Amino acid sequence: MFIDISNLKKSYTTGVVKTEVLKGIGMKLDKGEIGVILGPSGSGKSTLMNIIGGIDRGDSGRIIVDGVEINNLKDDKMTDYRRGDIGFVFQFYNLVPNLTVGENIEVVSNISKSPLNIDEVLAAVEMKDKKGRFPRELSGGEQQRVSIARAIVKNPKLLLCDEPTGALDFVTSRAILQLLQQVNKKYGTTILMITHNAAIAAMANRVFKVRSGEIVEAAVNQVIVPAERIEW
Ligand SMILES: Nc1ncnc2c1ncn2[C@@H]1O[C@H](COP(=O)(O)OP(=O)(O)OP(=O)(O)O)[C@@H](O)[C@H]1O
Ligand SMILES: [Mg+2]
Repeated sequence: MFIDISNLKKSYTTGVVKTEVLKGIGMKLDKGEIGVILGPSGSGKSTLMNIIGGIDRGDSGRIIVDGVEINNLKDDKMTDYRRGDIGFVFQFYNLVPNLTVGENIEVVSNISKSPLNIDEVLAAVEMKDKKGRFPRELSGGEQQRVSIARAIVKNPKLLLCDEPTGALDFVTSRAILQLLQQVNKKYGTTILMITHNAAIAAMANRVFKVRSGEIVEAAVNQVIVPAERIEW
C-alpha cells in the first residue's frame, strides 16, 4: 500500500476546550490510485489531508506514505517530504499574484530535485499560450489549471487536492477533474481528493466517507467512470 494509515488521532485545544477532530482514522490507498474523501463540513477532511501532506502532525497513530512513517519525521525531514514528494491543489488556487503563470511554476520547479519540463506541464494543462499572464488576468478555471501545473511540475509522488472544484461551475469543474484523471494516467501520480460532491466519487478507485472524525465507509469502485461522463 502506498498510503497506509491506522488509528490516526488528532485533537485541537482552543482555550480550555479540547476537540477531538480525528478519532482513529484508518485508510489505505495503492500507488497510482485516485482516492476521494467525502464528508460534511467540519468532519476533519482537511485536517486529515494536511497530516498526510506533512503540513500538520497527528497526535498518535501510524501514517505510512511510500514506506516511510511520516508522523515520526524530524522537522527538516518533514519539510523535505512536503516539498519533494507532495503536490497540493487548494480550492482558491493560492497562486502568487505578482508572478506570471510561468514564474509561478518556475519557483516550484527551481527547488525540485527532478522537476518535469515547465512547458510540457503547461501544455498538459492547456495553458502554454498564457505563460506570460498574471493570475488576475485568468478565469478561475484557468487559475486552477495553473495551480495543478504548479503542483505536478515537481513530479510529486502524491497529489493532494482539497476541494479543487469547490469554486468552479459545472463545466469547468468537469474539465479540471478530467485533467486530474489525465495527470494520474500520464504520470502515474497517486491522487487523494477531498470533495463535498458525491458524484465525483465515481472517478475514484477508492472512496472514503468521513463523519465526525471517523471513516464510516471505505468503498472500492469496480468501475472507474471517466470524468467527462460524470454529471451532477
Ligand atoms: N488549527 C485549528 N485549531 C482548532 N480547531 C481546528 C483547527 N483546524 C481545524 N479545526 C477544527 O477541526 C474540525 C475539522 O476541521 P477541518 O478543516 O478538517 O474540516 P473539513 O472536513 O475540512 O471541513 P470543510 O468541508 O468545511 O472544509 C473543525 O471543527 C474545525 O473547527
Ligand atoms: Mg476542509
